[in-house]
Amino acid sequence: MSDDRLIIFDTTLRDGEQSPGASMTRDEKVRIAKLLEQMNVDIIEAGFPIASVGDFESVKAVATAVKTSTVCGLARALDKDIDRAGEAIKSAESGRIHTFIATSPIHMKAKLRMEPDQVLEQAVHAVKRARQYTDDVEFSAEDAGRSELDFLCRVVEAAIDAGASTINIPDTVGYNIPHQFGETIRQIIERVPNSDKAIFSVHCHNDLGLAVGNSLAAVLNGARQVECTINGLGERAGNASLEEVVMAVRTRQDVFSCDTNIDTRIIVPASNLVSAVTGFPVQPNKAIVGKNAFAHESGIHQDGILKSRETYEIMRAQDVGWSDNKLILGKHSGRSAVKARLVELGIEIESESALNTIFDRYKALADLKHEIYDEDLIVVANESLSTSSNVKYELISSWVCSETGETPHAKVVITIDGEEVTGEADGGGSVDAVYSAIKSIVTDVGVLELYSVNNVTSGTDSQGEVNVRLEKDGRLVYGTGADTDIVIASAKAYLDALNKLSITLDREHPQHTGV
Ligand code: KIV
Ligand code: ZN
Repeated sequence: MSDDRLIIFDTTLRDGEQSPGASMTRDEKVRIAKLLEQMNVDIIEAGFPIASVGDFESVKAVATAVKTSTVCGLARALDKDIDRAGEAIKSAESGRIHTFIATSPIHMKAKLRMEPDQVLEQAVHAVKRARQYTDDVEFSAEDAGRSELDFLCRVVEAAIDAGASTINIPDTVGYNIPHQFGETIRQIIERVPNSDKAIFSVHCHNDLGLAVGNSLAAVLNGARQVECTINGLGERAGNASLEEVVMAVRTRQDVFSCDTNIDTRIIVPASNLVSAVTGFPVQPNKAIVGKNAFAHESGIHQDGILKSRETYEIMRAQDVGWSDNKLILGKHSGRSAVKARLVELGIEIESESALNTIFDRYKALADLKHEIYDEDLIVVANESLSTSSNVKYELISSWVCSETGETPHAKVVITIDGEEVTGEADGGGSVDAVYSAIKSIVTDVGVLELYSVNNVTSGTDSQGEVNVRLEKDGRLVYGTGADTDIVIASAKAYLDALNKLSITLDREHPQHTGV
């Protein structure tokens, strides 16, 4: 392993959460943060504390729960943002404030309506103010990827002089091309006289599918921090994906003169958790964490793999946390065996009651399905741990009559704020009838924009995992549900999305001016 360290700054809980529909609760953020800590992520950006009371509380909770990673709060270059971020990270063992202002001509003119010298002055003021709360201050020149190099170098030099120890160069709109972005990083480090006093970081968006490529080009040219997210979650097309950056650097040590501290075996559990919490499925062909990333369909490949794994595999599936899809514990296995397997899978169970819930669901599944695999257990655990005790809608039962030549008819019983209500309706098919039955008793359901079902394991007794997306007044929410009966899984997914829709969100966006 290389001596030179590449710092991993994870922004799943901040930029990742800016993906439309990916909002997370405080407890969900703490769960993800603790897994990131276990993975040895160096810095966890936990949110944007000024955005709302909920965001502030989430950053504070993460700052309190996490001990070994640095916890970071985002702040525009505004006093009110910085003060709020300073307050939110106060309890952290190691806390960072990340402050930013845009430096590109278009952002300064059209968004900030400020002259370049005013921007520079505000950047310096913000860094100095942030230093009153912590010695660990990061400054970002938003839209650096479209900024003029001379001005960018001036702002960077001034921010370092003001006390920033990390300088982040974001490609905010994903406009850059690797060789050119790498050259920009090299030039900044070379031209800024005090560049040796700061770590240079990059934060790349994926609008052209180049976020990881640009990040790696920057590393080859001297950047020593990469900002990234699990599953590449993030604003619009997302951010650079943590798993791809980390595994590229680890796998190609012949090319990179640095390496991360990441425990790569936690990558797949983290991907599963983020997907379960946000309801964003991972595409099967996604590098590293997609279901097909280590699957070999073609006969030629399978033959090669059997002779020598390296013929077609450049990484080992188990090194990134894939299990062997093992047949696990049977119907008679006890709680401690289930708990031990969950820990091996990177799922930490914190309370007896959480274990009881998972174990009850596990037993119920074992009654329906003879062979229980790791994938089943992961779905059961994530579903149990994500279900909060005070949700608005909960499924009690559903009944569907479906017969050739007849119109399907469904009856559902759900609780709304704890009160039992029954709905009935016909539909074009069983799922449609159940959804219509729910709509007969729940108003304001928005528009169902996406419905998909995937099997968790193989076989007709597999659990089906249903993903839905609802849109209402421009807001998107995702819901998931799993069950061996896909009609029930569908009802659970719909209610999960409706529960998210029922939570009012009133938060500021970091890239709005806020003045
Ligand atoms: O994309 C971006 O520029 C950002 C900044 C706040 C760092 O997310
Ligand atoms: Zn961003």
